[in-house]
Amino acid sequence: MNRPSTRNYVPRETIDEIRNRSDIVEVISECGIALRPAGRDFKALCPFHTEKTPSFTVSVQKQIFYCFGCQTGGNVITFVKEHEGKSFIETIEWLAGRLNIALPNQDARESADRKRVTNLEDLNRFAVEYYHRQLLTEGASAPARQYLKHRGVQPKTLRSFQLGYAKSGRRELVKAATDKGFTTQQLIDVGLIKDEDRGPQDRFWNRILFPIQNERGAPVGFGGRALSEEHQPKYLNSPATVLYDKSKILYNLDKARQTIYKQQRVLLVEGYMDVLMLYQSGVENVVASSGTSLSEDHARLLKRFAPEVVIVYDGDASGFQAAQRGLLRLLTEDLRVRIALLPTGEDPDSFTRQHGVDAFTELIDKSINLIEFQIQSAIQSQDIHRIDVKTQIVKEVTETLLNLKNRVERSEYIKYAARDLHVDERVLWGELRDAGLKETSVSRPMPQNKAVQQKLSARAQIEHQLVEALIQNPALIPYVKSQFDCQHFTEPRFAKAAQLLWEASTNDDSEGIDIQALISECPDENLSAFISSALLRKAPAPNLQARVDGCLKKLRNFHLQDLEQRVRSHALAEGADEMETLEQLVKLSNERRALRGRGVQDTHDENLNEEGVDNGF
Ligand code: GTP
Ligand code: MN
Repeated sequence: MNRPSTRNYVPRETIDEIRNRSDIVEVISECGIALRPAGRDFKALCPFHTEKTPSFTVSVQKQIFYCFGCQTGGNVITFVKEHEGKSFIETIEWLAGRLNIALPNQDARESADRKRVTNLEDLNRFAVEYYHRQLLTEGASAPARQYLKHRGVQPKTLRSFQLGYAKSGRRELVKAATDKGFTTQQLIDVGLIKDEDRGPQDRFWNRILFPIQNERGAPVGFGGRALSEEHQPKYLNSPATVLYDKSKILYNLDKARQTIYKQQRVLLVEGYMDVLMLYQSGVENVVASSGTSLSEDHARLLKRFAPEVVIVYDGDASGFQAAQRGLLRLLTEDLRVRIALLPTGEDPDSFTRQHGVDAFTELIDKSINLIEFQIQSAIQSQDIHRIDVKTQIVKEVTETLLNLKNRVERSEYIKYAARDLHVDERVLWGELRDAGLKETSVSRPMPQNKAVQQKLSARAQIEHQLVEALIQNPALIPYVKSQFDCQHFTEPRFAKAAQLLWEASTNDDSEGIDIQALISECPDENLSAFISSALLRKAPAPNLQARVDGCLKKLRNFHLQDLEQRVRSHALAEGADEMETLEQLVKLSNERRALRGRGVQDTHDENLNEEGVDNGF
């Protein structure tokens, strides 16, 4: 998700320039996609889903891409963002870099706040290096080095993770950092020292430190492990600061992100040591939530890099119950969730050390999905044939199913759950409906194919036509906007598209709006893919104005029917002023007749698009 605050520093015009000068064919090719010419377009096997025949299309003329298979689409910015797993601003920086476009001097534009953050990042960077040097060189660090060696941390791991050591003194860092020119307040702001009665004191002492980076690799905080049982707590973490928001940070994401992206899968473990040991053994797509429960932001962060999360849990699954909420959040973000179970009492670190990394990888390969896991653990621990037990499990499973965004998956899981719990599929659909699932076809399982084409209502087809015509000819938007309120669209996806177009267009905007900019700024991926697909479809008929007017008339007619309907039911329900109702009805029906006089019929067939099917999102 693009945060306006991060994009502020690059002005809109620069973003437009970067987009205009980045040839989509060149960029996509540079990202390793083998494009083949196909008429005026290019085609390739889609990098966003597995396919045997190319349905990934790139239009040179329109500078957009669209996959007719998985319905992913957008412009050059969207492509780099999705394919490379970059944020919006990282994408802009990357594209600017390859064009040699200098971005505005970040410092000059930075607000005082932003400067402060930069300074704090510098301070953290200093602390990381300081503690790291201490670990590597100081005589007093010998027990710490010994401890890490004993736990199997290799020197190269120690260096790549920049592990550190805070000595036993209480004012070691305070001294070193203030000597460097950092202020006590800055040290307090990043959580490295505490201001006590006796004066400022280091937060960490006699601990091994794990520097924590954000996904860009900037240091934001530390986790500190005690060396002995007596020293409590076992782990002491930096407090929340301007830089360190625990709900937004996943340990090791900076190093793991590329592998995660390549493997399309991320492993989620609990501890720093687990990450270190797996990474060291060659399992690189691993991150840790470091003791905090998974947040919505965590889920969204992961979603940027991979569609699947494997949660690696201790076999006794005691922590699992507590983590359930977090897991449901992953589902809500439309991530696939699998669970890998370790033998009781083991964590990934101890397991890998004892059984080897191959055994660990095997365990990951045997991971089961969340629903299976819920059902299996319920079946194992309780008597599934007891009515009350079954009712409880059905309730739990229903909640999980409710959080699944993907309908195809949901219907698959329902089949699975029905089979294993020995209940009728319809019972589960019924439970889902009762629990508030708003899906029109809730009484029957959805079709298997995501790209399945559904017939649209006549009204929706006209809405589709109009929106598509406007996307292809944005110059017409101000005109149509002046004629028709986008609130009157009924099909949600076209209503959303229309709203976006209406909002983007200003009345004095004779050129219409910049559709390309709309694609990169649109917050809804499905919507930007829909716009791209509309752009790719064949050029509109020559009598465009007439077509658009035709659509408008029909939509107005539908809308007037709505109004009449509303006036009628209002009259029935409230016993409203009959005279007034009558007047309103007469007025509406006159309006409708006037429309018809201008050639609008109640039904409509001449203007339907050829397929008469949904190609939307
Ligand atoms: P080792 O005992 O060093 O192997 O640690 P671990 O990584 O196996 O830790 P454990 O499974 O006990 O805990 C998992 C994670 O929870 C740790 O990495 C910490 O982030 C966090 N954690 C554990 N103990 C504490 C604690 O006492 N306080 C806090 N704040 N966090 C903790
Ligand atoms: Mn451990």
